Amino acid sequence: MLLLISGSPSAESANSRFLRAIGQMSGRTICAADYLADLPVFQPGRDKAPWPPTVLRWRKELAAAEAVIFSTPAYLHNLPGVLKNALDWLASSGELDQKPALVFTFTPSSPRGERARQSLLWSLEALNTRVVAEAALYQNDVSFTENGDIAAGDSREMLVEALGLLP
Ligand SMILES: Cc1cc2nc3c(=O)[nH]c(=O)nc-3n(C[C@H](O)[C@H](O)[C@H](O)COP(=O)(O)O)c2cc1C
Repeated sequence: MLLLISGSPSAESANSRFLRAIGQMSGRTICAADYLADLPVFQPGRDKAPWPPTVLRWRKELAAAEAVIFSTPAYLHNLPGVLKNALDWLASSGELDQKPALVFTFTPSSPRGERARQSLLWSLEALNTRVVAEAALYQNDVSFTENGDIAAGDSREMLVEALGLLP
């Protein structure tokens, strides 16, 4: 199973749509972690039983995933708080330790999510995640077919190649 992790808290998220398309393209079983905005704010004192159900779900789905794919917008040149909060919940439990991951930022304009991507990579490094490929994409670089698939082009080729690097 591939776990799709969108950094966007928006219901109409370009990143979530992009992730769904990548998941479809992989031909593998996918699961979307679409509840990250429902995780409580991480506080060290709350990281103990009884854990909130969303925290247990997040950790369980990550543990079950063969690999994960992140795609996130930039918020104020950084990763959105919901994604950072979700990662903070893993600091002591370690589900991303050695987990193979693809990491994308998918943003509409300059500076192409570079800083958000770098910030996400730092957090993933702290969690010992095995990032096998990463890229910062402009939303204009990717077009979709009517079915929601990624249309043929350079971005699709790059994504196919990146998917091929996952175990
Ligand atoms: C609070 C906020 C801050 C943002 N900051 C940035 C930014 O620093 N750089 C950027 O390229 N886009 C920024 N954006 C624009 C988002 O990247 C853009 O709306 C993106 O499409 C959101 O992705 P989503 O549709 O997956 O939610 C910001 C949007 C919001 C709501």
